[in-house]
Amino acid sequence: MSIRLDGKTALITGASSGLGVRFARILAEAGAKVAIAARRTDRLAELARAIEEAGGRALPLGCDVTDASAVRLAIEEAETELGPIGILINNSGVTISKRIVDCDEADYDRVLDTNLKGAFLVAQEVGRRMIHHGLEGRIVNIASSLGLRPLSGLALYAASKAALIHLTKSMALEWARFGINANAICPGYIETEMNEDYWRTEGGRKLLALLPRKRVGEPRDLDGILLLLASGEEGRFINGAIIAVDEGLYLG
Ligand SMILES: NC(=O)c1ccc[n+]([C@@H]2O[C@H](COP(=O)([O-])OP(=O)(O)OC[C@H]3O[C@@H](n4cnc5c(N)ncnc54)[C@H](OP(=O)(O)O)[C@@H]3O)[C@@H](O)[C@H]2O)c1
Repeated sequence: MSIRLDGKTALITGASSGLGVRFARILAEAGAKVAIAARRTDRLAELARAIEEAGGRALPLGCDVTDASAVRLAIEEAETELGPIGILINNSGVTISKRIVDCDEADYDRVLDTNLKGAFLVAQEVGRRMIHHGLEGRIVNIASSLGLRPLSGLALYAASKAALIHLTKSMALEWARFGINANAICPGYIETEMNEDYWRTEGGRKLLALLPRKRVGEPRDLDGILLLLASGEEGRFINGAIIAVDEGLYLG
């Protein structure tokens, strides 16, 4: 079965690096028009050019997801240029590696505002519009294996992702009757800009040795689940699911 998204419009946040770049490319290859959002607009412009050179349609949108009016404006522009958003990949995120006693209020605000409030603001605006347009929408929140089980030194990040998991279930509950499915992917360790330096440190090498196959994943390891959750027909019965894609990280 090959999943096609022709004629659909997808919004991918955090598309200026890492997983978001891959998500945008994969959805565009499947035929979706993609609105790609983040703060680093130079990178978005580069990605949009690459997608369009490959025959797709991409719209770069400078947007800080922690700013409600910027979120509204970006989504308005996406819908004006590309049509109503039927697929949202809520992917923007930041991390911080600090023990609880060392975190300050600014750390708390940065991580929770981006990973939780930002995801909420984007999903709320897109969800309202999906309901208004009567669209069978698909929302995919990118949580984390750390939202299922924390590790010390990552309390703020883990808490933000645990809350995002609960928020996903609430969206699924409230929006099922409108034909909107909301699910979360909890990736294990995938090498991206967010963590690439870490794997070369002593702590990173020790953690690597504890992983089920002593390796981290690549962004392409999420392609299948992303397409399934973004699809109309193929994923229509999947709602409120919290899906770990981590090579069995917590089974041992
Ligand atoms: N890599 C992993 O191992 C892993 C594992 C589990 C979950 N995740 C999750 O996957 C998502 C992507 O992570 P990644 O590994 O691809 O990291 P990344 O390369 O650092 O990408 C993070 C993205 O979020 C965007 N972003 C950050 N703050 C933002 C803001 N205020 N407004 C708008 N966009 C913002 C960044 O864009 P700008 O800086 O240009 O705004 C960037 O595009 C995150 O939610 C992360 O928590 C990653």
